[in-house]
Amino acid sequence: MTDKTFKLNTGQDIPALGLGTWQSEAGQVQKAVAHALKSGYKLIDGAYCYGNEDEVGAGLAEAFASGIKREDIFVVSKVWATYNTRVELGLDKSLKSLGLDYVDLFLVHWPLLMNPEGNHDKFPKLPNGERDIIHSHSHIDTWKQMEALLSTGKTKAIGVSNYSKRYLEQLLPHAKVIPAVNQIENHPALPQQEIVNLCREKGIHIMAYSPLGSTGGPLFTAEPVVKIAEKHGVKPAAVLLSYHIPRGSTVLAKSVTPERIDENKKLIDLDAEDIKLLDDYSNKLTQEGKLQRFVYPPFGVDFGFPDKS
Ligand SMILES: NC(=O)c1ccc[n+]([C@@H]2O[C@H](COP(=O)([O-])OP(=O)(O)OC[C@H]3O[C@@H](n4cnc5c(N)ncnc54)[C@H](OP(=O)(O)O)[C@@H]3O)[C@@H](O)[C@H]2O)c1
Repeated sequence: MTDKTFKLNTGQDIPALGLGTWQSEAGQVQKAVAHALKSGYKLIDGAYCYGNEDEVGAGLAEAFASGIKREDIFVVSKVWATYNTRVELGLDKSLKSLGLDYVDLFLVHWPLLMNPEGNHDKFPKLPNGERDIIHSHSHIDTWKQMEALLSTGKTKAIGVSNYSKRYLEQLLPHAKVIPAVNQIENHPALPQQEIVNLCREKGIHIMAYSPLGSTGGPLFTAEPVVKIAEKHGVKPAAVLLSYHIPRGSTVLAKSVTPERIDENKKLIDLDAEDIKLLDDYSNKLTQEGKLQRFVYPPFGVDFGFPDKS
């Protein structure tokens, strides 16, 4: 699966499978990145907020030293919410840590502004303990800054992350550049079909995050996932990762475990019966109001997701 790609609206090819690096600890992530790239992964997904881009950069350097070429891999980073009025500075910091002079894709991590002059670089708080958020800021202004990055050559493409249908509909009439990507939480327990459909219609590629349900893989025991895994003689992780390929999405799997990084490359072709089982499961959870969103930082902002609004 490591050679399969999709086309972005920029004309770039984006790999169908990527290695995630959120919560990948220092001391582990360098090895994970180097191992993944040496074993065929072509996409590494990172972010300033993850606090490990130095180690990700060391992993990239290790892979380059082994003969992997920069132009053959796809590196993603994201501007963090305290930098949403200073996106070029955010990108410069990530590039420095990564040891790169460009990324292939740079995303707005979350569409809100946390106080750039607050009491913490990433998670400023007010004296009462609440997050220090500048509610008057428009995410459209951040996008204008993202558009200006393209002429710097420091990123090949720009996109968004955690954009609901509502936020995309606010953004698109003002966008000179249509986002190449919307990176969202996506799995059978959170299909987010209304966003996926809008993105398809507008030519915005979906990158699916937390495909295993994030930490500890809580979706491994979901009934249809187990059933399909048994039918194909694979582990549940393979079913959950394979789900995204016929949807036309890139899937990001995080692991710092070399055996799992290898295992996660072995995706399968789900047949129509498998896809129906998973879709029925998604529809049932939607109808029953039992969708599961595993990643939702306590910003106290309504981002327009129907399961959270
Ligand atoms: N844009 C955003 O706001 C956003 C938010 C969340 C995530 N992301 C991106 O998406 C990536 C993936 O999402 P995620 O990290 O939340 O979670 P995930 O990939 O759904 O799950 C990661 C967890 O599953 C375990 N795992 C991985 N492969 C496995 C396998 N084959 N068998 C059993 N367990 C396995 C990992 O353990 P070990 O590591 O211990 O092996 C880890 O505990 C992130 O790393 C990040 O790059 C983006």
